[in-house]
Amino acid sequence: MSEHQTGFSTRAIHAGQDPDPTTGATIVPIYATSTYTQEAPGVHKGYEYSRSGNPTRTALETCLAALEAGERGLAFASGLAATNAVLASLLKPGDELVASADLYGGTFRILEKVFRPWGLNAKYTDDPSLEGFQKLITPKTKMIWIETPTNPLLQILDISALAQLAHQNGAWLAVDNTFASPYLQQPLKLGADLVIHSTTKYLGGHSDVIGGAVIGSTDLLTPIKFYQNAAGGTPGPFDCYLTLRGIKTLAVRMDRHCENAHTLAHWLTRHPKVERVYYPGLPNHGGHEIAKRQMKHFGGMISLRLQGGADAAKKFLSQTHLFSLAESLGGVESLVCHPATMTHASIPLEVRTARGVDDGLIRLSVGIEDVQDLQNDLEAALR
Ligand SMILES: Cc1ncc(COP(=O)(O)O)c(C=O)c1O
Repeated sequence: MSEHQTGFSTRAIHAGQDPDPTTGATIVPIYATSTYTQEAPGVHKGYEYSRSGNPTRTALETCLAALEAGERGLAFASGLAATNAVLASLLKPGDELVASADLYGGTFRILEKVFRPWGLNAKYTDDPSLEGFQKLITPKTKMIWIETPTNPLLQILDISALAQLAHQNGAWLAVDNTFASPYLQQPLKLGADLVIHSTTKYLGGHSDVIGGAVIGSTDLLTPIKFYQNAAGGTPGPFDCYLTLRGIKTLAVRMDRHCENAHTLAHWLTRHPKVERVYYPGLPNHGGHEIAKRQMKHFGGMISLRLQGGADAAKKFLSQTHLFSLAESLGGVESLVCHPATMTHASIPLEVRTARGVDDGLIRLSVGIEDVQDLQNDLEAALR
């Protein structure tokens, strides 16, 4: 049976991870080597130098491609190194990119502070519907860049419709799939051209490694592969090993993340101290129907606002115990974050406030602890 015919968890555990050919080691070894001995100049076993390729990285890249239903995967030292490689290798000065305004702060920062001076004109739509994107597209638009669910407002964007819109206009659709993970949603199957990940999050899953990935067709990834070798930004073999180790349990972890988040989101909507809950699994969420169509479950992230606004949020953030106040997301442990001063602090105050990322917004990454303990922790902090 070919790997693509097997189920998701089987691929997560086995794709690219055959027993080691020289020793039979069941688990992919950490090939801690920078270079490879050649029999004669140019006569080697497929590896010359570890920036160009490393067997532990190959295993991770093969596995990521299998999980996202892509022809090829490339691993990077961080999610932003992956973003950088995509933008630098596929776009050129004078091109335009249209992105949803609700976006990870670091992605906004690299677009504005690195690529705008280089000549890329990024435009942002506050309206996550098709029309919002349509209005900003010009003949110079080469890429539409989205997250779905978005960070931190958890908007849902219609991947199939946006892929069609991009292709009608001669552009690519790139989807940052970090919040959903390939277990919940596979954008390439819905027509997207590229998937980008911060593997730091759900894929690694244990808050112990930074990494990134790009997945897509062999054709589209050829210039990105060239850039990966030319510019570096590659992960070390130990990082690849940790990410692969995390991926093996992605499906079971995601099921629990989603189940816990679903329970807490519904409970929070009924709490008298909570003003608003953002969670795509709630029937009154604007993107609920699209999420039902394109996602397996609704994810492990919740954002919320409290009665009492920014002051109440500030107090709440220092009162949780199981929910650690920390950046990042997607690990087994629950985290609470204040996007305005943490993950999205690099967005100028007036821009992020206009986008709804103000001091009253709180973001939860719901872990896989016992949900009653998580609820008790939130209840005590709200009190
Ligand atoms: C949606 C999203 N994309 C990309 C990144 C960047 O990834 P990294 O921190 O691994 O560079 C993050 C980091 O928080 C993120 O949340």
